[in-house]
Amino acid sequence: MRSMASQNTKWAHRYQEDVERSYTLPNTYYTNPEVLAEEREAIFFKNWICVGHQEKVAKPGDYFTTLILDQNILIAKGKDDVIRAFYNVCPHRGHELASGEGNKAIFSCPYHAWTFQLDGKFNNGRAVRQMKDFNEQEACLRPVKLEVFFNFLFINLDPQAVPLRQMMPGLEEEIRGRVPELDRLTLAHRTSYTIKANWKNVVDNYLECHHCVIAHPQLVELVDMSNYRVETFDYHIKQTGTGKQRLGCELAVGEGKDAVETYASYWLWPTLALDIMPGEPGLIMMYMIPDGPEQTIEHLEFYYLQKEPTEEGWANIEYQDKILTPEDIELVESVQRGLHSRGYVDGRYVVDQLRSSISEHGVHHFHGLVLKALGAL
Ligand code: FES
Ligand SMILES: [Fe+2]
Repeated sequence: MRSMASQNTKWAHRYQEDVERSYTLPNTYYTNPEVLAEEREAIFFKNWICVGHQEKVAKPGDYFTTLILDQNILIAKGKDDVIRAFYNVCPHRGHELASGEGNKAIFSCPYHAWTFQLDGKFNNGRAVRQMKDFNEQEACLRPVKLEVFFNFLFINLDPQAVPLRQMMPGLEEEIRGRVPELDRLTLAHRTSYTIKANWKNVVDNYLECHHCVIAHPQLVELVDMSNYRVETFDYHIKQTGTGKQRLGCELAVGEGKDAVETYASYWLWPTLALDIMPGEPGLIMMYMIPDGPEQTIEHLEFYYLQKEPTEEGWANIEYQDKILTPEDIELVESVQRGLHSRGYVDGRYVVDQLRSSISEHGVHHFHGLVLKALGAL
């Protein structure tokens, strides 16, 4: 594997496999547009990116379009009930084939009206049969890999991609074990944020709870930090703690301590996170999407048993939207400014033997994956 570190000082770093000796990713990795350009190919076009719940394409003919950075992707359920993904581009002269979402029996290109079946096969176009050597195979939509994983749709632009279940063995079963109602969950609420920080800065913040007692006073009333643990696996990281109380409407500190339930959060390489909060069955999905080297779009989706959240569901949504997420955004935006300081290049990871809430080995694990993907390790 090439070593960027030795070729170019731009890629230099003091990261080591041994977390106790290692330095963090240096500032350039969070600010330089060339790093994001490399990450685009090496990370975002080579890994499984979650694009939403499979309920978005519940019936044959249902479709929606989505972006993986600048790559427009069409996802559609065929007459055979199979969900497929394609590059959303017409093989004729390159017009985008579909837009938004909806239900169609057939896709018709808005430019010259070539038509395509829901499974991507070329259907028809005016005068194409008169063309010499017209190859219908070449006129089919270009497929993109798609997997359904714990009811969510993941796509991968790399035709050679290793199956998600192989990268994260046992994870679906584990999530199903924690949320037995998983198959009944539906999207109840969605919010989005524009964060002035590199996407890795946002992920770093998610992967440690060292800052929780300082920055998230309400969170540490909900989740017991004394037995909080961070566990790393090849391509995902798990954080668990004991729920101290449910998120009542009033988020009453000191009440309901007997309602002991479990908190669990999972981060899936490279940019997806999900939280299972103490309280009613549900799932919070967090999509962290780069929007330039120093900007990240974050979508939060709340899945509950019904489309209209209960009082407790709304309390959770309000807490995440008005308190927890703004607290984290303030932290990462300050770090992003700090990364431009002439007084900072990189730092050290705080780790403890227990791998507890104060331990930053999850951040180290993530940085290792980034550097390996970039060929810089
Ligand atoms: S570009 Fe689609 S039919 Fe011409
Ligand atoms: Fe946080």
